[in-house]
Amino acid sequence: MASVTAAIDWHDWHLPYDDDTSPLSRRLRLVQQHISEWLDHRPDSSLRIVSVCAGQGHDLIGALASRSDADRVCAELIEYDPRNVAAARMGIAAAGLNGITATQADAGDFAAYRRAAPADLVVLAGVLGNISDGDVRATINALPRLCAADATVIWTRTRRSPDLTPAIRGWFTDAGFAEEAFHAPPDVLFSVGAHRFHGQPQQARPTGRIFTFTA
Ligand SMILES: C[S@@+](CC[C@H](N)C(=O)[O-])C[C@H]1O[C@@H](n2cnc3c(N)ncnc32)[C@H](O)[C@@H]1O
Repeated sequence: MASVTAAIDWHDWHLPYDDDTSPLSRRLRLVQQHISEWLDHRPDSSLRIVSVCAGQGHDLIGALASRSDADRVCAELIEYDPRNVAAARMGIAAAGLNGITATQADAGDFAAYRRAAPADLVVLAGVLGNISDGDVRATINALPRLCAADATVIWTRTRRSPDLTPAIRGWFTDAGFAEEAFHAPPDVLFSVGAHRFHGQPQQARPTGRIFTFTA
């Protein structure tokens, strides 16, 4: 008998964030820590951030909510599920973050980045584990079209076998990035990486696909 895989409900996917001890919450804290450290190291008066498949925006909203310099940031959260976009907008309003916008769009399409690129920080959390290996590589290769000079990319990926993270780290290097951090806690499957762009930014293409979600 053929097995049937239930489609993931991307709204309910966020429920483990309610439990501080869940692996997802641990992953979130690492991503937020890197966002905060990145802000600490960038004195610029104006910074652009894009979050790819942003979900409810817990990482960016949580990291910015407690900062007195949040008004330096102009951020766009690109998310497909309208329920998550609505939740993100509520979170943004509750935190008083005037510089953040949540947009309902297909983040796998270059056209979605018309306003957000080139970005100084690209958040790629919960993306690389939900697309084909070929699209993971294509997405990393597309980042120079989304990144400003000296940009940082914060990314996550499961290390469930077969672990793609060694290849991912190599692909970042090939695309002109230097690794600043890679967390792979031994008791969980998630990993969090931070890479800095040392290459030449490329002009964003207005059309064309970057990746297609498979989950
Ligand atoms: C694994 S969750 C990650 C959410 C968020 N980045 C986080 O780490 O909390 C993946 C998210 O991608 C969204 N998504 C799926 N396909 C998408 C697409 N084509 N464009 C934008 N978002 C998409 C889902 O609705 C879901 O919120």
